[in-house]
Amino acid sequence: MTKGKLWGGRFEHRTDYSVEQFTASEHFDRRLARFDIAGSVAHAHMLSAQGILSEKETEAIVEGLTTIGKEIDEQQFPWSASLEDVHMNIESRLTELIGDAGKKLHTARSRNDQVATDMRLFVRDAIDELQARITVLQLALVEIAATHADTIMPGFTHLQPAQPVTCGHHLLAWVEMLERDWQRLTSCRERTNVLPLGAAALAGTSFAIDQQMTADELGFTTFMRNSLDAVSDRDFVIEFTAALAIMATHFSRIAEDLVLWSSERFGFVDLGDAFCTGSSIMPQKKNPDVAELLRGKTGRMVGHLVALLVLMKGQPLAYNRDNQEDKEPLFDSVDTALASVDVLTKMVGQMVFDKDKMYDAAAKGYTTATDLADYLVRKGVPFRDAHDAVGRSVAAADASGLALTDLSLDTLQKFSEKIDADVFQVLTLEGSVASRDHPGGTAPNRVWSAVAEARTRLAQR
Ligand code: ARG
Repeated sequence: MTKGKLWGGRFEHRTDYSVEQFTASEHFDRRLARFDIAGSVAHAHMLSAQGILSEKETEAIVEGLTTIGKEIDEQQFPWSASLEDVHMNIESRLTELIGDAGKKLHTARSRNDQVATDMRLFVRDAIDELQARITVLQLALVEIAATHADTIMPGFTHLQPAQPVTCGHHLLAWVEMLERDWQRLTSCRERTNVLPLGAAALAGTSFAIDQQMTADELGFTTFMRNSLDAVSDRDFVIEFTAALAIMATHFSRIAEDLVLWSSERFGFVDLGDAFCTGSSIMPQKKNPDVAELLRGKTGRMVGHLVALLVLMKGQPLAYNRDNQEDKEPLFDSVDTALASVDVLTKMVGQMVFDKDKMYDAAAKGYTTATDLADYLVRKGVPFRDAHDAVGRSVAAADASGLALTDLSLDTLQKFSEKIDADVFQVLTLEGSVASRDHPGGTAPNRVWSAVAEARTRLAQR
């Protein structure tokens, strides 16, 4: 038997050292140990209930696995690359600790359904953790939105000043983006939370197992309906990293807003010294590096998703060792997502808005031109004609370096005789935002009701 290998029975010669190095995964999949142990304990309980393991053997197995869990937590566990992966490391140590009963644990099981189970438990756990942290970020944003429900700033399209909006409304847009990220995770969790154990290597097992019992102990809603599918597909990992890549894209867009807003040219927000860094050569600089890194980290998360898609696409049914390559991208996506959501939560808590600068910026760029057109429409002018009249008035104001509100009533009336003195109320920023008064609109009272609705919804989680 090949020295020390649990599968060495049919081998005469030792594995080449380079092959051991190339195939080993214990240095990264040890991160699954907690889930591997939970899966094994549930499997042993089920084997015992089915009369496949004796009570004594089961007790020894569970005790041994508990000891191993402690050894791992205390960093006393003798990890070995020659034992390939987390599963063989734990099983081999179990037999070392409890003797022959340890060798029985793998009855009616394969590493193929074992690793699929570990991965599902890992993803489920990561989803729970991430969802909790997304909610904390959303709650933080909702409270800032409440404070700035009537703070006026320019809204942009094409990064050109478009129409005035309220800052609270902008922040609530972020909350909505995060809400869908949260929902995508809920939906992914449903499909992930299904037990693969029982599939064994690929075809199922000849033992009389009870999959629902194992599923219940592990908190899975049910077990997988097809053994070939159970061991081979990693679509739940792909789906999860896709949800994370979309979430990272949202973080990146939020970060981009913050980079712009905190720039000298915009000056809308101060991100705080704790969340900026200086330049090694230019003493005056205060750079938004944290926001930039949030934007930058999106690249690797999208990359991990692509890696997993490519990993899966050429695989024939059922299990192939290719699947061992699913772990590093997954782990890195989870770590990056958790770090990103945390730092973003802290950073938004430090934001100090410069209301005057935002207001002044909103007042520039003829952002109430649409309001003037709408005013004419209400007076019976067809929208296209109104658009044209306002366009000409903007051109005239621009030529003299004036705002629309700087033009006299006489001048304005040259562009349309329907314009009266009441136009000046319509041209104010406050009037403009207040008039967008419908669900989903930027009016301060709509922001307040959206805040109230979000508070209730988030508190129910
Ligand atoms: N380390 C392997 C993985 O991550 C475990 C399953 C190995 N199974 C096998 N038959 N070689 O996929």
